Amino acid sequence: MAESTASLANSQASLNLQSIAAKAGDLPPMPVLAVQALQMTKDSKVSARDLQAVITRDQALTARILRIVNSAMFALRGEVSTVSHAVAVLGMDTIRSIIMSASVQQILQGGGAKGHDLGTRLLFDHSWGAAGAARILAETTRYLNTEEAFLCGLMHDIGKPILMGNFPAPYTQVMADVYAGRAGFHTLELQGFGFSHAHVGALVAERWNFPWRFSEAIGFHHDPLSAPEHLHLACITNLANSIMVQMEVGFEKRKDLDVAAEPAADFLKLSRKAVDETIDKVRRLLADPASGPRL
Ligand SMILES: [Fe+2]
Ligand SMILES: [Fe+2]
Repeated sequence: MAESTASLANSQASLNLQSIAAKAGDLPPMPVLAVQALQMTKDSKVSARDLQAVITRDQALTARILRIVNSAMFALRGEVSTVSHAVAVLGMDTIRSIIMSASVQQILQGGGAKGHDLGTRLLFDHSWGAAGAARILAETTRYLNTEEAFLCGLMHDIGKPILMGNFPAPYTQVMADVYAGRAGFHTLELQGFGFSHAHVGALVAERWNFPWRFSEAIGFHHDPLSAPEHLHLACITNLANSIMVQMEVGFEKRKDLDVAAEPAADFLKLSRKAVDETIDKVRRLLADPASGPRL
């Protein structure tokens, strides 16, 4: 919660997405075939080949899915060359998560818009690192749906490239102010826009029909203890981000950030030793050059 103050925390406590929707500008749709494929994964009569037939109609989506499947995040190491093979090896639940990840990644890869650069590589590494960290935190704190945590970690900053695309001039100023050390993104966005990338991310999760807890976890990732209901997932997402900031993976770097002293660590009853062990695991995961998919 390093970026927020009491008054800012209050201003976001309600997460009124309708009022933000009117101001946030265009939101990217989920790729059409990804929507269709996700629907299909809920139907027990659908086979791996049926799913493959739909997904491969979108070559870019197929390529992204295979890159994700073969990254160390899923520990298959280049073994999988077709979508149906991926389904056979990983099962439908994990494939769902990967289809969602591939859709998120399309937005992250967009980076900025019209020549404005949000530091695509930095955001990409930060997001994949946070996804891995969130999964490890879910395991450590016994959050049963580890893939859900993974996705919230991956998506937590998805509002940033969207804000950059919709408001390039003011957002470039926000970035310059962050870079100058004036404050963090969340605080400066709230001051400049009245909402932040966290709220825009929550809105995307809602528009994409992800479960509401995703919107809460993403919407409150800078103020997780204000989440009305899904505090566990919000705290995991918050700490995954903090671990990336402490490890200096991404635009905001604070080596001195004491992750164990964060309110979310206290909420999750993580001892200093548990936090250190978690950070160690994340470090080992990210030390693998194939830890995330290639950009
Ligand atoms: Fe954030
Ligand atoms: Fe972040």
